[in-house]
Amino acid sequence: MTLLKEHDLGTPARPGAATVELEIDGLAVTVPEGTSVMRAAAIAGIDVPKLCATDTLASFGSCRLCLVEIEGRRGTPASCTTPAEAGMKVATQTARLEKLRRGVMELYISDHPLDCLTCAANGDCELQDMAGAVGLRDVRYGYAGDNHLGVPKDESNPYFTFDGSKCIVCSRCVRACEEIQGTFALTIAGRGFSSKVAPGSGDFLGSECVSCGACVQACPTATLEEKSVIDLGVPGRSVLTTCAYCGVGCSFKAELRGDEVVRMVPYKDGGANEGHSCVKGRFAWGYATHKERVLTPMVRDTIADPWRETTWEEAISYAAGRMKSIQDRHGVGSIGAITSSRCTNEEVFVVQKMVRAAFGNNNVDTCARVCHAPTGFGLSQTFGTSAGTQDFKSVDASDVIVVIGANPTAAHPVFASRMKRRIRQGARLIVVDPRRTEIVRSPHIEADYHLALSPGTNVAVVNALGHVVVTEDLVDHEFVTERCDPDDFATWAAFISSPEYSPEATEDITGVPAAELRAAARLYATGGNAAIYYGLGVTEHSQGSTMVMGMANLAMATGNIGRDGVGVNPLRGQNNVQGSCDMGSFPHELPGYRHVSDDAVRHQFEQLWGRSLDSEPGLRIPNMFDGAIEGSFKGLYVQGEDIAQSDPNTHHVEAALAALELCIVQDLFLNETAKFAHVFFPGTSFLEKDGTFTNAERRINRVRPVMAPRNGKQEWQVVCDLSGAMGYDMHYEHPRQIMDEIAATTPTFAGVSFAKLDELGSVQWPCNDAAPAGTPIMHIGKFVRGKGRFVETPFVPTEERTNRRYPLILTTGRILSQYNVGAQTRRTKNVTWHPEDLLEIHPYDAEERGVVEGGWVALASRAGETELRAHITDQVPQGVVYTTFHHPVTGANVVTTEHSDWATNCPEYKVTAVQVRARVHAVSGPVSPGLSSDRPGTDVPALR
Ligand code: SF4
Ligand code: SF4
Ligand code: SF4
Ligand code: FES
Repeated sequence: MTLLKEHDLGTPARPGAATVELEIDGLAVTVPEGTSVMRAAAIAGIDVPKLCATDTLASFGSCRLCLVEIEGRRGTPASCTTPAEAGMKVATQTARLEKLRRGVMELYISDHPLDCLTCAANGDCELQDMAGAVGLRDVRYGYAGDNHLGVPKDESNPYFTFDGSKCIVCSRCVRACEEIQGTFALTIAGRGFSSKVAPGSGDFLGSECVSCGACVQACPTATLEEKSVIDLGVPGRSVLTTCAYCGVGCSFKAELRGDEVVRMVPYKDGGANEGHSCVKGRFAWGYATHKERVLTPMVRDTIADPWRETTWEEAISYAAGRMKSIQDRHGVGSIGAITSSRCTNEEVFVVQKMVRAAFGNNNVDTCARVCHAPTGFGLSQTFGTSAGTQDFKSVDASDVIVVIGANPTAAHPVFASRMKRRIRQGARLIVVDPRRTEIVRSPHIEADYHLALSPGTNVAVVNALGHVVVTEDLVDHEFVTERCDPDDFATWAAFISSPEYSPEATEDITGVPAAELRAAARLYATGGNAAIYYGLGVTEHSQGSTMVMGMANLAMATGNIGRDGVGVNPLRGQNNVQGSCDMGSFPHELPGYRHVSDDAVRHQFEQLWGRSLDSEPGLRIPNMFDGAIEGSFKGLYVQGEDIAQSDPNTHHVEAALAALELCIVQDLFLNETAKFAHVFFPGTSFLEKDGTFTNAERRINRVRPVMAPRNGKQEWQVVCDLSGAMGYDMHYEHPRQIMDEIAATTPTFAGVSFAKLDELGSVQWPCNDAAPAGTPIMHIGKFVRGKGRFVETPFVPTEERTNRRYPLILTTGRILSQYNVGAQTRRTKNVTWHPEDLLEIHPYDAEERGVVEGGWVALASRAGETELRAHITDQVPQGVVYTTFHHPVTGANVVTTEHSDWATNCPEYKVTAVQVRARVHAVSGPVSPGLSSDRPGTDVPALR
């Protein structure tokens, strides 16, 4: 169990090796130079009373409660704003200080409702604690004068309330929103007695607030309070676990009252988030107990039959019997499985083991196929490892940040906050994206260059950047000579120097002005530590793998790899994409990215598992679909993935699923894929899982069960049972034993165990004898593959072309409040902000088609047609339209095509030629309230 409240040292830690020694209340204490007296005292075990200070925010010095006396100095300075000095003698408790503090507290309390016993924060309120700490016994001032007691509550946010009557105007919320979140949604309006916290001119919901919860976390009183705490009461215990949404992998304390989760509080010592959160992890966890969760196994003979609830035993034996029968009739290779990046490493490991040992083939693939497979391929070809190079903290040391095909404020919000902080400190920013995403220009940050390329021309842009680096001799020759293969570099340099790759020659293709591109290349190459962060806007293209290699070339040529502040970093979509790939989910790779044809590796697994393993790669997801339609692939087990909604060209996917003889779906809800299933295994939510997730920075985090599995079985147990019923016994008592097997067979995980994770909190792989505490930054001194490998990256335009019939390009992405196919977030109050997918269209394109704001449009491609409502915005360039794919009713993937990355088959979600037509449509319902704060009709950028 984790402590409910971590010790708050009052002001942030100061970096640096130099220290000072001082004396506080007679105790000697040594602290880093620049540390506040308050923090030094706390380190010495003396907590000075405080209200406006907290160790997550820069000191502010407004409440005057933390006064101390310092020998030889006049007055009573605030300890939170006074730096500790060598030889200082500080007294924190004297009669004079006590009197002063009581006076301060008296003033606060005289304008505070004295309803402590019925207040939702009773027992969890710093004002209450401080009244006790300073020994306040009575308040001399009555309530007769002016006060704030009648201020109305703002309850507009679905997750927290703002009760201004309890506000002490300490400004912690305002500073949290600025310093931690970087949204600047709050201000202190007015002066003196009338000063108050204000979210713009209206309420929280209508403001720029993105509901990250940082202000709620920082508030020392019940002014900003989670509604769940108001409803359920103050929690009494907590369990440390990991968010199950995006690849940032934030650590949270699940705080409980009895067995009920009251709130999720971001963990201050969390390696990935250091106490910050976004609206999804902080608030959108209610889906775990949603009434639509299926908790009982179900079977049916055909997909036309109704579901029949049954026992686990019958469901498993039914599934195994039908799978074996398919293999008897159609061969060993006629069945397979798809693993999920939403499941734990342990759950994924057992699925690929079941496929290889029980099914007897390599027909296992993962949803990473449709997102970051090109990352694995591209980075392993160039650097030797299928993973990003840095930890998130590294961006604090970046001088130039390049964001390519990623929208971190929407998809990786906690990392985005860190990155924006670095930009506010002065780092330069280059954004490569067709859309004007929030980081291009938002309050307090602005990109130096926004290369608004035409969708599908990434490789032309990266080649042009490389061209400038080589032809203007901005190459880091020392790095290249020492660290990279000289022949490969020479070949690449000759290739990239070709005039056809110059910014001027490619301007017409990319749409990026040559001068701007040249300037961006110079900045990247010469601006100090330069780091690349990229997302699915890089990988989900027909040249996704080429682009990953192009970025790796650029980083090597400029020496931006192998130290703090630099690197090439995929922002992984789902919580465990990295882990599901690491675990051997690909049909050609055993755990640890080792090819199935490698005899030595295969023999190691064969000996351990007692089965001979297939040395031929199995089927990828698209091959499984094609095989199903052709009739050679008949049985599929799908672990926690709604492929009917998330994979491209829905009609084709549905045809494949409908052709299967047996489809087993394991999930929380009856999703779109389950419509084609014959067996439904209820899944477990992250609050029930026991295992590990690996985030985008290779950080392995523990996922600890907060409640018993509501379906009665952990998912790894279900897989073991299914495997056993198919004739191959897998037996584990606890998921820690699965991790032990992973560690025993996978060199990069050799030092990982649940015990080590409990001890260190988290570790970044490689974790082994050479790096027992893990590896935050890779390729220091030497690339994993030895010499860095430059690869030629010719630009090949996608086959998906616009024409008169389909003149626009559709690109897709995510929004902050929703997550992927929305199975979880749609079942939470996050629908307040994004109740439907909308089509963003440029004003010119809209006018040409008679499309009006909020009006229905038909969106058609060569693959299919759907309809949704339009939002007219110049955030998309002319000729490009954009939508999200969070709502099955829209089915945005009905229109995406089967074009895919040449190396990995990752679908080309980001480029689909489409036409948009205005629909004369009876509006099916009132314009949703969410639209008023999220999209059409206003420019409020809430929860984008
Ligand atoms: S919840 Fe809203 S107001 Fe509070 S810190 Fe986050 S963005 Fe700012
Ligand atoms: S809302 Fe809370 S954190 Fe903000 S000023 Fe008021 S008391 Fe301080
Ligand atoms: S940033 Fe990602 S991991 Fe962190 S709380 Fe949000 S969704 Fe969860
Ligand atoms: S805690 Fe130091 S002035 Fe408020």
